[in-house]
Parts: sequence; structure tokens; C-alpha cells
Amino acid sequence: MDLCVTSVLYLGALIYIVVQLIRFVFADADFTLLWAVAFGNKPEATLRGKVVWITGASSGIGEELAYQLARLGARLILSARREKELERVKHYCLSCSRLQEEDILVLPLDLLERDSHQAKMKTAVEHFGNIDVLINNGGRSQRSLFLDTSLEVFHGLMDLNFLGTVSLTKQVLPHMTERGTGAVVTISSVVGLAGAPLATGYSASKHALQGLFNCLRIELTDYPGITISTVCPGPVQSQIVHNAFTEQIDKPMPVVGDQQHKMATARCARLILVGISNRIKEMWIAQQPFLLFYYLWQYTPTWAWYITDLLGKRRVQNFKAGMDADSAYFTKSKAP
Ligand SMILES: NC(=O)c1ccc[n+]([C@@H]2O[C@H](COP(=O)([O-])OP(=O)(O)OC[C@H]3O[C@@H](n4cnc5c(N)ncnc54)[C@H](OP(=O)(O)O)[C@@H]3O)[C@@H](O)[C@H]2O)c1
Repeated sequence: MDLCVTSVLYLGALIYIVVQLIRFVFADADFTLLWAVAFGNKPEATLRGKVVWITGASSGIGEELAYQLARLGARLILSARREKELERVKHYCLSCSRLQEEDILVLPLDLLERDSHQAKMKTAVEHFGNIDVLINNGGRSQRSLFLDTSLEVFHGLMDLNFLGTVSLTKQVLPHMTERGTGAVVTISSVVGLAGAPLATGYSASKHALQGLFNCLRIELTDYPGITISTVCPGPVQSQIVHNAFTEQIDKPMPVVGDQQHKMATARCARLILVGISNRIKEMWIAQQPFLLFYYLWQYTPTWAWYITDLLGKRRVQNFKAGMDADSAYFTKSKAP
């Protein structure tokens, strides 16, 4: 009888492990976020009527967040540098939702012009009266080797991705602490947690954001109504490669490969909105094999270093051969 019970327990444990492994193979986010997708609060219920300020709303992930939030009935502040693109995004938001003209404020903003951020905040609050969610999404990536990259580029990356985000957050957060409620959601990256070649400055700027918001979250324990979230996406379809910094501050990207192998922008945005609705502190969003990479970095760093070295070498070889580095994992190396 004892043997029978033990066998059933072992079988149960084995089935559980196999099911989890199968789930992991098909997963495109960490288990906490996927649990929230299945059983947590739905964005449809939590974000309707909320005022959400999105930076980098003129393309890619920010643009898609705007469309999904509009359909949910959230009121929007759309920011980036290109006003014409923001008007295009607003126009589409209005056409795909029940929002009215006054529910969407186009608020052009350059994250580098930090002196302007106070006035932008004033305009936003004058228009809507309050801000419920700030999504710090605007930013640029990098594709260049450390040894070839000018110091100006490192400066540019920190100025935009780190200081620009800190500056706007410093304007919005006091408004949230005063009200005792709100969410600051910052789009970091997989390289905010781990390392990858060709992104030394970009990775540093995202690591800086991770560190800052991890500390800030603890400082705000007296404000249980405020959520600080960081989002760490892997490769997602957008203009990120096209807009990346290279070796010199004004040198455009020479090669932008096919982005089709990356996660669909709509799926990434939906996962972010579920994470916001469930007040998740850190979200990992990536298809396999990248998701495995996050877990290795978190739980088995020795293995992570082994695999990073292998893949990183390939990435550098392909970059030197003039290919889009992002496709390096999926295409045959052309390097000698
Ligand atoms: N796509 C990915 O694979 C991926 C992966 C991990 C993390 N991320 C992060 O996701 C965020 C969104 O990027 P994306 O992939 O959607 O790329 P994207 O399509 O290039 O969008 C970047 C956005 O940032 C804005 N921006 C750039 N410089 C700015 C400035 N000085 N001031 C204000 N806004 C500025 C751009 O608008 P304007 O040019 O109009 O200013 C644009 O709307 C970034 O923080 C990026 O680091 C992306």
C-alpha cells in the first residue's frame, strides 16, 4: 500500500515537471506574468478611463501601447519628438476606439531637453487633472563595438535612456505621491539584466534604470498605492535597430535586417498592459530561446556565461561581416 502511494506521488511529480517543461518551451514571458495573463486582472477592467502618459509613442512598442490602451478606453498623453507622427498615432487611436478628441493629448517632448519637462508636466495635468500611469518607453539602442565607439555615443545613450527617463519621472512622481496612487512603468531590456556584445552603452543605460527603479521601489514603501514596474523585453518588432546609435553619434545604421523573427509588437504590448494591471514589479517578455537566457542569468550564471560566450562570439562575427546582428542567432554566419 505504502509503495503504491509513493509511486502515485512520484508519478504526480513527474507529470507536473513535464507539464511545466512543455509550458516553458512555448512561453513568451516569465511565469508570474503568464500566471497574470491566465488568472489575474484584465486590462479591460483596470485601465479603462485611466490617464496614461506614454513616451516614445510615435513608433514601435509605444505606438502599439497607444492603440491597445485607446481600445481599452484609457485616456492618453502621447509624447515623442516627431509631432506629425504623434498626430498620426492619435488619428488612428480615435478611429479604432470610442475616445473623443479631448481624450488624447499630443504632447511633443524631447527627453534630452530636460529643462522643458516641468512645463510638459504642467500642460499634462492642466489638460487631464491627473496622471495615473507614466510609461517611460522612449529610448534608443546601440549597435557598435566598444573599442570603435566614441565617448560621445556613451554620453548620448546615458543622456537619453537614463537621465531623460529620470528627469520625467522626477516631474511625475511627486504628483503620484501627493495623490497616493499611480504607476511608473519603465521599458528596460533583456540587456538591462544581462550582457550582450555591441550594446555596451545601451546595456549600461538600461542597467542604470534597473538599479534606480529597484531602489526607488523600496523608498516608496510608505506609498502602497504606487507601483514601480520595469519591463525587460527581448527582441520585438519595431524601429529600434533602424534608430540605433552606431560608432559615431550621427552615423546612421548601415544595415537593418528583416525583423520578422522577433516577437510581434502587439503581443509585447498586451503583456505589458497585463503586467501593469496586476502591478507586477519586473516583467520578462521574450520568445524562446531568449526567455531561457533570462532564467539562466537569474538562476545559473555559470551556464549563462558559457552560452553568452558562444552566442556573443557569433554575434560579433556576423556584425563584422556586415549582417544585422539581431539576425545572427537565426542565420548562417558569413564570417570567415
Ligand atoms: N524593440 C526591441 O527589440 C526592444 C527590446 C528591449 C527594449 N526595448 C525598449 O523599448 C523602448 C521602445 O523602443 P522601440 O523598440 O519601440 O523602438 P522605436 O520604434 O525606435 O521607438 C523608440 C521611440 O523613442 C522615441 N525617442 C527617441 N529619441 C527620443 C528623444 N530624444 N526624446 C523623446 N523620444 C525619443 C522615438 O520617437 P521620436 O523619434 O519621434 O522622438 C520613438 O517613438 C525603448 O526604450 C527600447 O530600449 C526595445
